[in-house]
Amino acid sequence: MTAATTAAATAVVNIGSLVTNDPALGDGPLGLLADAAVVFEGDRVAWVGATGAAPAADTAYDAAGRALLPGFVDSHSHLLFAGDRTREFAARMSGRPYTAGGIRTTVAATRAATDAELAANLARFVREMLRQGTTTLETKSGYGLTAADESRALRVAAEQVAGVEEVTYLGAHVVAPEYADDPAAYVDLVTGEMLDACAPYARWIDVFCEKGAFDGDQARAVLTAGKARGLTPRVHANQLSYGPGVQLAVELEAASADHLTHLSDADVAALASGATVATFLPGCEFSTRAVYPDVRRVLDAGATVALSTDCNPGSSFTSSMPFCVAVAVREMGMTPDEAVWSATAGGAAALRRTDVGRLAPGARADAALLDAPSHVHLAYRPGVPLVAEVWRRGERLPGAGGN
Ligand code: NIG
Ligand code: FE
Repeated sequence: MTAATTAAATAVVNIGSLVTNDPALGDGPLGLLADAAVVFEGDRVAWVGATGAAPAADTAYDAAGRALLPGFVDSHSHLLFAGDRTREFAARMSGRPYTAGGIRTTVAATRAATDAELAANLARFVREMLRQGTTTLETKSGYGLTAADESRALRVAAEQVAGVEEVTYLGAHVVAPEYADDPAAYVDLVTGEMLDACAPYARWIDVFCEKGAFDGDQARAVLTAGKARGLTPRVHANQLSYGPGVQLAVELEAASADHLTHLSDADVAALASGATVATFLPGCEFSTRAVYPDVRRVLDAGATVALSTDCNPGSSFTSSMPFCVAVAVREMGMTPDEAVWSATAGGAAALRRTDVGRLAPGARADAALLDAPSHVHLAYRPGVPLVAEVWRRGERLPGAGGN
């Protein structure tokens, strides 16, 4: 900090264990520091170091030995919907399998909702995520499936609800019911009139590449059209079966391939060799009683791995990154350090962001304080509301603390 500084500075001191995600600042890939302090100046991190060496600040917050980590970056969610699918979930828990077809139930409810209802629903989930430490989130359309319904959902996300920074056009979620007999015409709509209506509100384009949704050729057409309009691809790949999604994502330089429940050796090799982040969604396997993906194989091959909630009313109705960290550790063989990195820095990489997912000078002042001495408690104490405080853009959120 310099004497000329005008932005108000807050020092968070007596941090028992600080995750910086900057190996130059501390130990290991998490850049861990003990007895640490962080100074926020305006919406940025100004200083990181030992508590005893912290520069003077306008206000001090005593972390009392607890753990501070970068706010979670949730790079994959579907929050633009109305209604829920309680009955489908209950039926699944009595043995019915998950299929892509359930999406159409939510499409009907979403089309019937007003803009205000969609905005209120979205705002509720954004608040829910913030309280659990998520300070950056992506969300998608995909429950409208007409040019008007997809574009108004994206407009609600882009213009009406604060806190949604990353918006994705997912007109290619499933074939709209009106086009059940003519999927090719639906792909024409998604790559034509619907894309024109949606592109102004979105940074990303996504496709559900899966049996019962879109095959490899259709997915390629969707992503290529989006790229030509300046949108960057991300792909729902290999969720319910082996398929072309992962390799298509890598070939088209998608920012991320997501789900990855069924991976061939060639898929793992592609993820390890390309720039596409491998995003795992443990809430989805949990909520659909699916077999967990082999994350170890992907990590050990050297790919960049992210964790995300996939929050949606069908396959994964959790907004909790702490829950996903716990499941990834217990069920998917990740270490607590790997899971916490993937839920913060990994999510940032999946969104091609360098300003979030780390706590180092110059990064955004987004952080979660745990009511625990270590980030490991996120997996060690599953289901416990450990997020005591949340800072976003340097502001401490009211009411974040659960304990
Ligand atoms: O990511 N797989 C496709 N889309 C969502 C599920 C949507 C739904 O079931 O409503 C997912 O899991
Ligand atoms: Fe999804």
